[in-house]
Amino acid sequence: MSKCLVTGGAGFIGSHLTELLLRQGHHVVVLDNLSTGRDHNLDAVRSNNRLEIRQGSITDPLALSEAVHGVDMIFHLAAAVGVKLVADDPVRTIETNIFPTEQLLRLAVQGNVKKFFLASTSEVYGKHPGESWVEDDDLHLGPTSRPRWAYGCSKAIDEFLALAYHRKYQLGVTVGRFFNVVGPRQVGNYGMVVPRFVEAALRGGPVLVYDDGSQVRCFAHVGEIVQCVVQLMNTPSAEGRVFNIGSDQPVSILSLAQQVISKTGSNAEIEFVPYNKAYSEDFEDVQRRVPNVDRLYQTIGRKPVMPLDSILADIIQWKKETLHKG
Ligand SMILES: NC(=O)c1ccc[n+]([C@@H]2O[C@H](COP(=O)([O-])OP(=O)(O)OC[C@H]3O[C@@H](n4cnc5c(N)ncnc54)[C@H](O)[C@@H]3O)[C@@H](O)[C@H]2O)c1
Repeated sequence: MSKCLVTGGAGFIGSHLTELLLRQGHHVVVLDNLSTGRDHNLDAVRSNNRLEIRQGSITDPLALSEAVHGVDMIFHLAAAVGVKLVADDPVRTIETNIFPTEQLLRLAVQGNVKKFFLASTSEVYGKHPGESWVEDDDLHLGPTSRPRWAYGCSKAIDEFLALAYHRKYQLGVTVGRFFNVVGPRQVGNYGMVVPRFVEAALRGGPVLVYDDGSQVRCFAHVGEIVQCVVQLMNTPSAEGRVFNIGSDQPVSILSLAQQVISKTGSNAEIEFVPYNKAYSEDFEDVQRRVPNVDRLYQTIGRKPVMPLDSILADIIQWKKETLHKG
């Protein structure tokens, strides 16, 4: 069994990953500053004696080096996340997402860490015009005068750094580009669309759809995503490579809103909001975001397949339970 560090382990994806690693018998150290993560996300595993929770920031070099001590595997998920948060605070995005990753890679080499997973994002593709996006495609980031591109750009630099550490020091790096991961524990405060729609529908509306709702996305359940991540880390041929990790089943945002309203049994109305009201005057969105997941499937023999209907049912049930608990 390995000792794993999960940065951002109290977050949405990180807490599900932490639970899976503990179920598999590993020791897990979580480093999280609880900025967008929640302490109670780890309630189900808090008493596990193979779990160590450290509250601290990846921007604090001492906290980072203490957390890496004696670790075999690193899952680096801590980041400034969410289109809204990132558009509102690009300085925080850049400071959180770039230097600490470099520091962590250096500590991993010094500490003889065997495996390093970098959580990247579909945002690195920018405004890619293609029907579906392949890992080695060119990146189409927007101008530096528009803060929204700082997120994708910061993660692209992380990818360059991680792959460079793999080439130079043979660190066992794998990069995963997540595409719209959803599920229980995701919160809507930072612009995440599914929890925002579910919360609005359960409150009775209105459900706010930005622009005309024709934007296309693919939603994957977090349970399937963390299985893919762990399986990639156990597959030697995944080292030094980049993988799209997500569902390849597209849906428009308007259809998503309609499905959420129908599945919650709500009377909520849909209201269309222009981007300049939802974000800022110069906000740009991505019209279509669909991954090609052939590389993932060929490498680990699986890809996320849960239908949107089942995913929404799980999220709605979780949301009702949390509302019920108060
Ligand atoms: N959810 C998605 O659809 C999605 C899509 C693409 C990429 N990602 C990536 O996956 C990772 C996890 O995202 P998530 O959706 O679980 O979001 P999240 O906000 O729930 O998780 C991020 C975690 O990092 C922690 N964190 C932030 N800054 C920190 C700091 N300075 N020091 C220590 N901890 C810090 C937060 O408290 C939080 O627990 C991120 O790297 C994100 O970029 C997520």
